[in-house]
Amino acid sequence: MSAVDITSVSNAAYIVAALLFILSLAGLSKHETAKSGLTYGIVGMALALVATIAKTVDTSDGLDDRGLVIALLVGAVVVGGAIGIWRARIVEMTGMPELIALLHSFVGLAAVAIGINGHIEGSHDSLASLRNIHEAEVSIGIFIGAVTFTGSIVANLKLSAKIKSAPLMLPGKNIINLGSLVVFAVLTVVYIAVEEGSTTQDVVLAVLTVLALFLGWHLVASIGGGDMPVVVSMLNSYSGWAAAASGFLLGNDLLIVTGALVGSSGAYLSYIMCKAMNRSFISVIAGGFGVEAPASADVDYGEHREINAEATAELLANASSVIITPGYGMAVAQAQYPVADLTAKLRAKGVDVRFGIHPVAGRLPGHMNVLLAEAKVPYDVVLEMDEINDDFPSTDVVLVIGANDTVNPAASEDPTSPIAGMPVLEVWNAKDVIVFKRSMAVGYAGVQNPLFFRENSQMLFGDAKDRVEDIVRALG
Ligand code: TAP
Repeated sequence: MSAVDITSVSNAAYIVAALLFILSLAGLSKHETAKSGLTYGIVGMALALVATIAKTVDTSDGLDDRGLVIALLVGAVVVGGAIGIWRARIVEMTGMPELIALLHSFVGLAAVAIGINGHIEGSHDSLASLRNIHEAEVSIGIFIGAVTFTGSIVANLKLSAKIKSAPLMLPGKNIINLGSLVVFAVLTVVYIAVEEGSTTQDVVLAVLTVLALFLGWHLVASIGGGDMPVVVSMLNSYSGWAAAASGFLLGNDLLIVTGALVGSSGAYLSYIMCKAMNRSFISVIAGGFGVEAPASADVDYGEHREINAEATAELLANASSVIITPGYGMAVAQAQYPVADLTAKLRAKGVDVRFGIHPVAGRLPGHMNVLLAEAKVPYDVVLEMDEINDDFPSTDVVLVIGANDTVNPAASEDPTSPIAGMPVLEVWNAKDVIVFKRSMAVGYAGVQNPLFFRENSQMLFGDAKDRVEDIVRALG
């Protein structure tokens, strides 16, 4: 095939791949079409890779280090692919968000590397305006990439509990964030204004990069654990814009289109999640803008009461309506199977058993639904928070299995709480509430839960799987 052919065929393949990515996004938006959405995405990505490799292997541009280019490409694909397959195979369902955060950090790092390459290569344009556009692309690409890089690393560390999830509250944090943006704009203007290739330009870019790395770290460190799902989807959006910026620098249309798709869909998902959690979108993307340090850290809520598995079994056997609200602890304990057995047993005894699922229960959207479906709990008894929240007052027993933040009354009753305003499952309105957990420790957002100290609440301590199995045994 002639040289011109390879370029035009690859460009055509890029357009087809972009269309497949759009179809993929459309498919992934519904349960029924998610599988075909994934297939479109895989085919689109395979096509894009083949087209890119074909362009790289093409000798028409006269470069003589073709062997080295191909060796680097193959090396990168083999090493990256091997690590990707290994990580994807061993990752636990509960570890997906932190893996995704880590992957976003690579996109950010790649954008920084491409930006630095663009800086070193220079624009080679004789027209000043084209040179300026190139320099603006370098500066913006590096800035978004560096913010995504450190922000994603902090998100990964918070999600994997390697650092505390509570928000970092530096004095004047909003001024720091806004000030960093202003300094970035000034540095970009200086970067464009000074002579191309000069030492001053190198220094300005280095300062800009360090500033962006700091801003990414600070933005995400300032956001509390409860808002992390939104942050992960926001970082997904940033990684898309970083890829689009790289696309402009490399003159790669597919990267621009794909980056824009990821950037805008990630931003829209963050917006939907903010609405569901009653969070201000602007506040979350601006690193907790307008959120004050929590005032009520050391409140004495009194004594909690405990119950054992046998007494819980008796309570359940005498109940006519039961609601189970699962959370992250059910996933950790892998308690969904005994929970399914318990449900079947109680239903066989004529007890009305239903599930109440909070939109951010667990660690990823739909986490609880997937686990319950895996354990074959019938779909029709698994209800969303909005569908079940009004039914708690007429419910005999609620089993809170490994959930904490998603059933915290402070969200609706304490305006100073870090999770204030987040809609929660109002389990405390039921007659009896049994809370399954291993200790009195706080949940993901790092906030104490007054539910545990309510008159109608009792704690059932221990691993959720063991305790549910004990109850199933006691029910006979
Ligand atoms: P959490 O607030 O995370 O609380 C889980 C509870 O499970 C903990 O208090 C823990 O208490 C208990 N637990 C852990 N292992 C257990 C085991 N083996 N047996 C029994 N209990 C166990 O859970 P949640 O109510 O599901 O809330 C989810 C939180 O994660 C929210 O803050 C949400 O914003 C955040 N988040 C959600 C997502 C998405 S998209 N769903 C993503 C990232 C973060 P002990 O240690 O005392 O046992």
